[in-house]
Amino acid sequence: MSFDRRAFRNALGCFATGITVITTATDAGETFGLTANSFSSVSLDPPLVLFCLGKTSNNLDVFTSSGRFAVNVLAEGQRDLSVRFSTAFGDRWEGLTWETWETGAPILAGCLASMDCATEAVHDAGDHVIMVGRVKRLASVAEGKPLLYYKGDYAGITDQG
Ligand SMILES: Cc1cc2nc3c(=O)[nH]c(=O)nc-3n(C[C@H](O)[C@H](O)[C@H](O)COP(=O)(O)O)c2cc1C
Repeated sequence: MSFDRRAFRNALGCFATGITVITTATDAGETFGLTANSFSSVSLDPPLVLFCLGKTSNNLDVFTSSGRFAVNVLAEGQRDLSVRFSTAFGDRWEGLTWETWETGAPILAGCLASMDCATEAVHDAGDHVIMVGRVKRLASVAEGKPLLYYKGDYAGITDQG
């Protein structure tokens, strides 16, 4: 390998992404979630999406066993949610509003888009697993700006012209 960890992270950080909160729930309705920018579309037909989950995550077991997850795409005003679901916050769900659709994974209020997914596959990938989901139901807003992540920091879209 001709580069170190820092150089790798710097290169990856040049790829601007949106930010999601990925949620799941047990059959008993206990809710879990974490902030993730590794979300990607995979397939249009069938409708598949993915995100990568670190093997050190406290949520690894529940995500790989629940059979469901929801992708909640954050809007620019939801930075607090990103912080809440990526740090030791106490109860990440305190004071939040959410609903469930088909799978039972929590759909957070006020997001740009939400996708309710049945877990299609879990692939081993280095220090992460790749969670592939089949989208069962979705919603998105026509207007609104996304919260972005770039070079290790939060960013937003600036309209030009
Ligand atoms: C902007 C941002 C993006 C992140 N993306 C991911 C990701 O794609 N996958 C991941 O496993 N962790 C990601 N993290 C880190 C997790 O959110 C963080 O480690 C969280 O504390 C995990 O919680 P848990 O251990 O309770 O699951 C990201 C954090 C931030 C701030």
